[in-house]
Amino acid sequence: MAKKIFSGVQPTGNLHLGNYIGAIKNFVDLQNEPENNCVFCVVDLHAITLKQDPLELKNNIRETAATFIASGIDPTKSIIFNQSLVPAHSEGSWILSCIARMGWLNRMTQFKEKAGKDKEKASVGLYIYPVLMAADILLYDATHVPVGDDQKQHLELCRDIAQKFNNDYNVKDVLVPPEPLIQKQFSRIMSLKDGQKKMSKSDVSDLSRINLTDDKDKIVNKIKKAKTDPHPIPENVKDLDQRPEAENLLGIYSSLKRQSIEKTLEEFGGKNFSEFKNNLSELLVSNIEPISKEIKNLLNNHDHLDKILLDGGIKANEIAEKKVREIKKIIGF
Ligand code: AMP
Ligand code: TRP
Repeated sequence: MAKKIFSGVQPTGNLHLGNYIGAIKNFVDLQNEPENNCVFCVVDLHAITLKQDPLELKNNIRETAATFIASGIDPTKSIIFNQSLVPAHSEGSWILSCIARMGWLNRMTQFKEKAGKDKEKASVGLYIYPVLMAADILLYDATHVPVGDDQKQHLELCRDIAQKFNNDYNVKDVLVPPEPLIQKQFSRIMSLKDGQKKMSKSDVSDLSRINLTDDKDKIVNKIKKAKTDPHPIPENVKDLDQRPEAENLLGIYSSLKRQSIEKTLEEFGGKNFSEFKNNLSELLVSNIEPISKEIKNLLNNHDHLDKILLDGGIKANEIAEKKVREIKKIIGF
């Protein structure tokens, strides 16, 4: 069945292997099913819910777009743009904020985490962040939204908003409640230094993650230093219980090889980590090095990148503006 796909990534810099395996690689797979229509957005309006340095933000928008393209998202097949180019996102977000209920937003766990103890000091933008996200999705009539597990609650809120709008205004299917696409396997890549912690751009140790801009030497060195345990690699999955570092490294290998963990254990069961790590390094270098080289290439030509975003923005604007017009008519404007 043809799917309308929408997803977004924040331009906050340092995209890493977790972002690649958990998100971007799936975007590429979805794009490569020819019947799908895909829109991939650099969500810069979401980024400013936390204070950003203007120059850094500009760089990060370009770097995120470059990462999309270097990873295989093709601007001739998918729409790639940054959110702030399309005013309909802000306008739609206001309208939907009048549909969403305080009680719904109060339940959002991501706000609680990001706002921390001093909620009074959090920006109002951070609080209504999920409403902007709902506008992103609903303005494109997206049927499917690939996201990480942490965004599941925001997707449910988006469905609630769509349904309440349709009910309140007595219209059928004007806003389409989207389905989340959440990977069952390999949806959480963990830190290379601690198998209990998610790989994250905010970890102080650069050795905890493979950045998508790392070169061969860095990748090899980080895998060499990655934490393991003293036991050999097990023969079956059950024996990975309580061995989070082993499970993570074997998961990364399986995901990039596009095979099950079982298959990987057939290959390496009984062997020691040093042999496995050599293979993992090789596989990572062959997957990540071409991406990191291409990111650098693309970032050398700002005009070319900006043109891709602008062209994408024009196409996105056409779709989103039409939807906002339809919504405004229904409301009585
Ligand atoms: P973020 O940079 O946290 O906004 O994440 C962008 C996308 O990458 C989201 O879809 C996340 O769910 C995904 N993601 C981030 N970190 C990881 C990770 N360690 N493992 C898997 N997916 C991740
Ligand atoms: N909130 C998402 C994240 O942090 C990013 C995002 C914004 C998004 N708008 C979206 C994801 C629309 C999917 C669809 O990962």
